Amino acid sequence: MRMKSLNLIGGGRVGRTLGRLWHASGSYRVQDVLTGSARTAEEAVTFIGAGQAVTALADMRAADVWMLAVPDRQIAAVAATLAHGSGAIRPTLAFHCSGALASGELDPLRAGGWQVASAHCVLSFADPARALQQFAGTPCALEGDPMAVAELETSFTRIGAHCFALAAEHKLLYHAGAVFATNFLPVLQALAQQLWHDSGVPAGVAAQLGTTLLRNATDNILALGPAGALTGPAARGDHALVERQGQAVAQWDATAGQAYAALSQLATRLAAT
Ligand SMILES: NC(=O)c1ccc[n+]([C@@H]2O[C@H](COP(=O)([O-])OP(=O)(O)OC[C@H]3O[C@@H](n4cnc5c(N)ncnc54)[C@H](OP(=O)(O)O)[C@@H]3O)[C@@H](O)[C@H]2O)c1
Repeated sequence: MRMKSLNLIGGGRVGRTLGRLWHASGSYRVQDVLTGSARTAEEAVTFIGAGQAVTALADMRAADVWMLAVPDRQIAAVAATLAHGSGAIRPTLAFHCSGALASGELDPLRAGGWQVASAHCVLSFADPARALQQFAGTPCALEGDPMAVAELETSFTRIGAHCFALAAEHKLLYHAGAVFATNFLPVLQALAQQLWHDSGVPAGVAAQLGTTLLRNATDNILALGPAGALTGPAARGDHALVERQGQAVAQWDATAGQAYAALSQLATRLAAT
């Protein structure tokens, strides 16, 4: 059977990782790779080990599948440009990789007869070489036109992803879950370090406090679930202390005070479940 061709628009952390995995597994024939510059397109092709770097959409050939692995804010504009692309490009299948945005970002393509979808791999692609090693078992949220979703379920499963269906109208809240689960952790850790520093805790001790509490909390959450792992003044119902501590934090930093108050309310709610 003929191997399907794959064009990449965007060959950064996600694009080059997925391109390489699909090339190595023989799932797709990586064809043309367009990024923001000739240099980064060449780097992506080198990392993938296949494909041809191009510097303009007009230079891209027709392909069976198009991956738009550009930053979220670029997806709609790239889709609009592709929809009005050169005569050589025929409508096939296009998808983007955003967690927060749905396949509706690709509506200009959909209107032109393309099958469109979004495919969000729930992995931090901080470094493509590491992501290659970490990818097996990665959950992947799929949403979009049925034929596109079916094709992507096959190709993502082939490189070790665990696909699941997600409704388009839920993507923003779904992705907010990932923001709470992972992106806010460094923010909270940095806040704690600043509070300890400003309380006169020696740097070495503060680092040890951070490590001990983070490991302890992670272990307990994994073993007992969030409600079972919850401790602290709000969980104990010590409202007077929450109030006094909240005021002290607000005087220290107004935004941190708002976060303390909001998180204490959420902790009280969680403790009541
Ligand atoms: N990073 C993650 O952990 C992660 C996880 C899941 C999903 N995602 C999603 O994956 C998508 C890509 O994210 P990323 O982290 O891979 O971004 P990235 O590393 O910043 O790479 C973006 C790529 O898009 C290219 N690009 C930017 N504007 C372009 C345009 N107008 N035309 C053609 N190429 C363009 C960039 O080229 P230059 O380098 O030349 O600028 C680069 O190759 C986003 O939708 C993101 O939400 C990311």
